[in-house]
Amino acid sequence: MDDALQPREAVKRMAPYSPPTAGREGKLRLDFNENTVGCSPKVADFLRTRVAREQLAIYPEYVEAKAELARHFGVREEELLLTNGTDEAIQVLMNTFVNAGEEVIILQPSYAMYRFYSELAGARVSTISYRSESLAFPLEELLRAITSNTRAILISNPNNPTGTAIGLPEIELVLQAAPLAAVLIDEAYFEFYGATALPWIARYANLVVSRTFSKAYGMAAMRLGCLFSDARNIAFAHKAQSPYSVNMLAALAARVAIGDRDYVSSYVAEVLAARDWLCGELDRLRIPFYPSAANFVLLRADEQAGKICKRLRAAGVLVRDRSHELPGCVRVTVGTSEQMQRLVAELERLWT
Ligand SMILES: Cc1ncc(COP(=O)(O)O)c(C=O)c1O
Repeated sequence: MDDALQPREAVKRMAPYSPPTAGREGKLRLDFNENTVGCSPKVADFLRTRVAREQLAIYPEYVEAKAELARHFGVREEELLLTNGTDEAIQVLMNTFVNAGEEVIILQPSYAMYRFYSELAGARVSTISYRSESLAFPLEELLRAITSNTRAILISNPNNPTGTAIGLPEIELVLQAAPLAAVLIDEAYFEFYGATALPWIARYANLVVSRTFSKAYGMAAMRLGCLFSDARNIAFAHKAQSPYSVNMLAALAARVAIGDRDYVSSYVAEVLAARDWLCGELDRLRIPFYPSAANFVLLRADEQAGKICKRLRAAGVLVRDRSHELPGCVRVTVGTSEQMQRLVAELERLWT
């Protein structure tokens, strides 16, 4: 038999990324920063009872969903691209604005898919580290790193996994320093943080903002993201996107989800209260942690990190060991008060 096909050089060089998505059902899932309860019951009811056979036979059509989502987010339809999760938004951004060999700046540690799609596009990846100790946003270091060859800067705000945020004045400095680069502000955790750069798409032609239905909305399985930017950028991005990449069910479900604002706001309020309570308990247990602006908290378990994650897993509680990027750190998703009580009870039992 002939040799297997040879992949592109960029694919050969990429590090594989395979998050631990198997065997999570039935466990307390504090490992992916999802909504730990589920989506709005209205969304689930709609999908169960209101989707007609005929609708499933037709290629998706996004006109109405897009109009409603644009209204919901306060943008013009031409300023919005629906995507198959934020992940596709990042990929489309790369495919639209970055040639192989051009530079993309990412922060370290941050959301793994930034490096993934940058490397896949054959970009030259330049990495800036979050400040040691505080894990604060390294603004001066980033501003110094921007060159005329920088085509994209990918920022998660608040950042996963550190939980730290960058303020709007600092975002403005980045936008002004990089007029030739697409500056992505990934607002996956916006609902828990509350500050947004979205209105600035009218002011800065290099600003791109993303939002997702995977986190506070509890619809990670549906895969729906939104990319916002100047209408001219969105027109190019639309050209670089497959015409049917967003599932019709996701587009239909999103319309129901945005109609049930109370569900998301009460879930967010519950998580924020549970986060405060959890942080108080971590202080009581003398477990060091980083203050977070999102629905997760990064704990410092030092040499215990691997052991704690394994023991929690054995007790039915899933968390994420981030030691490969922040030695000794474990990230836990914040869910309901009841779920946090269970986590704290297990930590109290297992932490030595
Ligand atoms: C910063 C950030 N952006 C995006 C995502 C994924 O979003 P989506 O499910 O919309 O692809 C995550 C998921 O963990 C994330 O942490």
